[in-house]
Amino acid sequence: MTLVGVAVGAALALVALLIPWLPDAASEQAGIVDSVYWLVTVICVAIFAMVAGVAVYAVYKFRAQPDDLDDGSPIHGHTGLEIVWTLVPTALVTLIAVYSGVALAKAENLPEDGGHRVVNVTAEQFAWSFEYPDVELENGEPLRTGELVLPVDQAVEFLITSKDVLHSFWVPEWRMKQDAVKGVTTRTVVEPTKVGTYDVICTELCGLGHAIMRSQARVLSTEDFQAWVAEQRRIAAEGGSVQGEALFTAQCASCHILEAAGSQGQVGPNLDEALQGADEEFVRESIVDPSASIAEGYEDVMPGNFGELFTDEQVDGLVEYLLESTGGR
Ligand code: CUA
Repeated sequence: MTLVGVAVGAALALVALLIPWLPDAASEQAGIVDSVYWLVTVICVAIFAMVAGVAVYAVYKFRAQPDDLDDGSPIHGHTGLEIVWTLVPTALVTLIAVYSGVALAKAENLPEDGGHRVVNVTAEQFAWSFEYPDVELENGEPLRTGELVLPVDQAVEFLITSKDVLHSFWVPEWRMKQDAVKGVTTRTVVEPTKVGTYDVICTELCGLGHAIMRSQARVLSTEDFQAWVAEQRRIAAEGGSVQGEALFTAQCASCHILEAAGSQGQVGPNLDEALQGADEEFVRESIVDPSASIAEGYEDVMPGNFGELFTDEQVDGLVEYLLESTGGR
């Protein structure tokens, strides 16, 4: 029976090892975070296997015979066993706590040469926005976007806050996760190591739109990132519907269909229909005060503070772009 147990255990372990349990690891921090997962997993699996093994053995070995109606013989505690099952878990839990603490401190270290970038992250029901304090636009304002764009292989310190309830900033492939709390600035550090597009996910239940509170993180090569920054500067300088289009792509496209932008979002109304022939006033109200009129069949989940998030010029540009795209006036 022991042999059967070992064989079954080995076969299951092999299957377990073949499954890619964790998402792609795309940051400098991922390795150490994963090592915490695996440490805890191995300890838990070992304890579970031991307990399950003893239970199965006991069921088999001490099974009552059909004609055996006696009570079990009385037993008294076993001091040695009790000491072991107190000390071993204490040691394991202490190991996990110390290892995790060291891992977290290491993961949140900034590089000593000071070569890192700061990005301010703002969470709100139900959207993310990102501010690049070191990218100043022509009008003196810092660059603000709805998607996160970063160069590969440069550490980023995220300073995170919320405008309303608790949210939590998470890109699974980067492993690092941090709460967004109103009135408090939390921080986390990530150094993306792979070019690609990832999901920014809110991982704290924050209301009706929690499930759709997602954005994108695009990690670009250093050259592509510089080109992207230059493009953002150019768009901001140009203003009008050019800026409106860029804003739409960054902030609105994930939730709305708009043929002119090629967007496929299904969370909010299809703008080609909803804004057809709409006047400027209605378009503007729909952006800065979306709760004022909710299209039939949709929930009141659009962020209500685009009027604060965007400059007046940006709102004008967005209105202009939407009117042009949907044939309104
Ligand atoms: Cu924001 Cu969940």
